[in-house]
Formats: sequence, structure tokens, C-alpha cells
Amino acid sequence: MTRFVGQGAGKLILTGEHAVVYGWPALAIAVDRGVKATIEATDGPTHAVAGTPDDPRLKAALIQALGREGWRVTLESDLPLGRGMGSSAAIAVALVRARAAAEQRSISPDDVFELAFSIERIFHGTPSGLDHAVSSRGGLLRYVKGPPPHFTPLPCPRLTLVVLDSGSAGNTKDMVDQVRKQGEPAQRILARIGALVPQVEAALNDGPALGALLTQNHALLRELGVSSDRLDQLVQLALDAGAWGAKLAGAGGGGVVIALCADPAPLLASAAQHHIDAFICTPAPPCEVQ
Ligand code: MEV
Repeated sequence: MTRFVGQGAGKLILTGEHAVVYGWPALAIAVDRGVKATIEATDGPTHAVAGTPDDPRLKAALIQALGREGWRVTLESDLPLGRGMGSSAAIAVALVRARAAAEQRSISPDDVFELAFSIERIFHGTPSGLDHAVSSRGGLLRYVKGPPPHFTPLPCPRLTLVVLDSGSAGNTKDMVDQVRKQGEPAQRILARIGALVPQVEAALNDGPALGALLTQNHALLRELGVSSDRLDQLVQLALDAGAWGAKLAGAGGGGVVIALCADPAPLLASAAQHHIDAFICTPAPPCEVQ
């Protein structure tokens, strides 16, 4: 049976999560981890093979992405799921590309973005589009949500980012709803996050300055109420181990912390000592048109 494959990269948000939902810019980077979707025609309904996360939204996403019944789908991911690393967007992008491969069509990043948006809505309600913008384009991106969305690819700095997994998933839709319900006080914090973004962009090649801005961004996210004791502890652990700076990355509630390091070894050792899942993420280069 012929198989068709598509890939979608995971992402890490350097700055601007939550604020991006309200029109502020965000900077995010595609990483060397992601989702691989393999599809093959089968009799019967479209279904994901055993071992795929048991998520009730997945069936609707598969139908939306693949257009019809009759596909057997295997999803392989080396992204921790629901941890703010864009796993659902990477699934959407991988499925869109697998379908294009099956239909022997080349597909531009713009088309991948549009098609993946409708799938991402199944998972997150009203996503800004940041996750699948990065997943479909690769590299480092400044993103402003639409309509029409603005994508600005930025030169990729040499960043050593250590990811610390809190061990629990955050629910993006719930976290976005929680911020929305706060009204005006949240908007003031979001504006301060938005004002950080150009500063982060200007500091991309200055590790200590960039690190300090990331830690400031974390403090604002904590004020916004989307951090947790665990995420704050992980930020502190990173700083104690000599990181230039650290912040939660993604919607928060659970998920991961990213730490910018000159030398990741002390942080990785400290994480191991505290039984924290930690790994280095390398930026993934911008994608070619498939
Ligand atoms: C995206 O990973 C995180 C949020 O900014 C939501 C969004 O952009 O849709 C919180």
C-alpha cells in the first residue's frame, strides 16, 4: 500500500504569547522536533492507528485535513504533547502536507498556513495563527495576526535554548479564555508584553540582554496569571544554574520553560539532579516550498 508523508515542526515562543491574540507582534522559532504524519488509503473510516494520543478532537481534525474517510493515519511526534511547543499545529501542518503529497500537488507555505488554520481552530477555538505560521514556514518569525496576517522571517541567531518540561499539560483554549475574562487589567499587561517584543528583536544577538528580557517577559506572564508555582520554580532553577534568562513558553498553566544559556551543561545537570525532563532545542531552518 502506498504511503504519503508530511512533516510539521514544533515551535518555541521567544516573546509575545497571549499578547499576539490581541494584535501585538510575537517572535517564535521553529525547532528541530515535530510531527510526522503518514497516511495510507484504507477501506472504512479515516482513523489514527493505536498509540496516537486519545484526543476527541483528533477525529474531526483528520477529516478536516484529509477531506474524506478512507485514510489510515500514523502520527509520530517527538514533541511533548500539550506543553506549549505547538504539537497540535505541527499535527495540522503534517496532515496538510501528507494530503498534498497524496494528491501529488506542491504546496506553498501560505497554502499550508491557510489550510492548517482551519484544523488548528478545532483544537484551540480562536488561535492567533502563530503556531502553525511557524510550523509551516520554519526559521524565526515575527508574526502579527490577521486579517491579513503578517509574517516577517528574521535571520536566525545562534541560540542555545534549554527546554525544561513542567511535566503537566496546559490547555491553550482555557488559558486564552482566562486572560480574556480579566478584561482591562490584563490588556495593560499585554501591552507591556507587546512593548517588549521590539526590544527582544533588537537583542537577538546579545545573549545577556536577550536573557534579561526573557525573564522580564516571564514576570509579566506571571502577573497575567498564566504561570504556576512549578513554572516559576523552573525559571528560578535555570537562573540559579547560570542561564542568561528564562520564561514559560506557550499558553502557560503547564507546559515548558525555555532557558537561554551560554553553557547548557550546568542547567542540564541540575535538571537531571531534580528529575526534570530537560533537552536542548536547536532552531529549524526556514522551509522550502514542497
Ligand atoms: C500560542 O502557542 C499561545 C497563545 O499565544 C495563543 C495563540 O497565539 O493562539 C497563548
